[in-house]
Amino acid sequence: MKLPLACPSTLQTIKLIGHEFSGAGGVSYPIVGGIPWLFPDPKLTLSDWRGRCQLLLEQLEIEISNLKVAIKETPSDLTRQRLETTRQLRIRNLEMLKRILEPLKPSLKMNAATKKAIGYRLPLRQGLLGYFPNLIRDWSGSFESENKILFEATLEILQKTKPVRAENEFRILVLGAGASRLAYDFAHKFPKSMVVAYDLNPMLLLAAKTINDGKKVQAVEASMSAKDSATPGRNVELSAPGALASNLHFIFGDVYALPFSSSTFDVVLTPWLVDIVPRRFEELVRSVARVTSESGVWINSGSWHFSFADETDNISLPEGIEIAQQNGWKSRASSQLEVPYLQSSFDSHRRFETITQFSMERTAQPITSQPTIDDRVDWIRNPSLPVPAAAIFTEGSTTHAVMALVLSLVDGQRTLQDIATIVSAENGLPHEEALEAVLSFFDRFIKDRHFRAT
Ligand SMILES: C[S@@+](CC[C@H](N)C(=O)[O-])C[C@H]1O[C@@H](n2cnc3c(N)ncnc32)[C@H](O)[C@@H]1O
Repeated sequence: MKLPLACPSTLQTIKLIGHEFSGAGGVSYPIVGGIPWLFPDPKLTLSDWRGRCQLLLEQLEIEISNLKVAIKETPSDLTRQRLETTRQLRIRNLEMLKRILEPLKPSLKMNAATKKAIGYRLPLRQGLLGYFPNLIRDWSGSFESENKILFEATLEILQKTKPVRAENEFRILVLGAGASRLAYDFAHKFPKSMVVAYDLNPMLLLAAKTINDGKKVQAVEASMSAKDSATPGRNVELSAPGALASNLHFIFGDVYALPFSSSTFDVVLTPWLVDIVPRRFEELVRSVARVTSESGVWINSGSWHFSFADETDNISLPEGIEIAQQNGWKSRASSQLEVPYLQSSFDSHRRFETITQFSMERTAQPITSQPTIDDRVDWIRNPSLPVPAAAIFTEGSTTHAVMALVLSLVDGQRTLQDIATIVSAENGLPHEEALEAVLSFFDRFIKDRHFRAT
């Protein structure tokens, strides 16, 4: 079965020429670690992820060296032992990440300015390691019951809408597949079907491909809240529970710019995706509708809890179904189910999630266009437009100006009294109030850095 790949921007077909895909207008899409890199702006996204990757690996190296210093300095044998255990676990994980991320070629050292700029733009762990626990859950063998529950629940709701059998030849797309265990389980269940695991996170898809290729990955399962702080993690080996799924394919890309011809898939799965993507639900609905064939189905399994700043967009499931019905879908079934979520035997807490499942069937309503690829506001897209004088900017400018002034006054000599005197003169605040503000600013500034970034 062939997969009709298309240019994610123009939807024209793309062809494999040598070691890359080539699209209209001379755009080349590389293949990274054996996985097609089909983002609308392949060069930019690749350098963006490479930057995140470099920064992450460097940051992890620094944390490991800091631990070494702390081990030398601590007078307590117990503390030394605990720190040494932590250090060993981090070394193992760093080695694993270096191997998995090697296809991104993150070896170049960045200069300090670039590092800062990238560090500012990209929240470090949100990027590559945000779903690291999901990788462990999918492939370490310790969470098999969780994987089975999600697979069976997803299959059951699919069967309700579209009775399917193992001998069916389907095209199945798993959007936001992450570490791809659900995609792997579907590939095994339907060996004649073609299953595509689609995601934008290189760490997750590269690890999933390595594992599906039959390799074993040495990793660390870090506890989210260890029962015993002396054991903050444990060594695990990630491997596929069964044979290689040769019908499982991996593709990098963005759910809002799907690189497939229209009406390609019979089944689209969205496991734990719909409420974590940053755009209004309608845009995802239209994007999925375009690539789903008539009578094809969309099965969702995961949380339904939007957290937009604008309450209008924090829609209920009936609102979501209404939106879908206006955009090429017919609702077939929906239900909720409580499932265990990332429950590790050595964590001190147990998490359950109520997942929302729905099944929608694609109608004949044509949806040919896809969401705009560039989701930036118009005055960023078009730099010749004036930037609107919104309150967030004036507030932000005052806050940042005061913060910048206060921080720039730190020179190893001035006291907080001195700094407050300058702030008071600059801002017309009574000295007493300026001193209060400066004290509380530094107190917060220091304490905010006491905790690990999450
Ligand atoms: C909550 S995780 C779920 C992952 C996986 N389905 C699971 O259950 O473990 C959401 C996934 O969506 C991916 N994702 C987020 N935004 C995306 C986008 N715009 N395009 C493609 N994938 C995206 C993330 O990288 C992540 O793997």
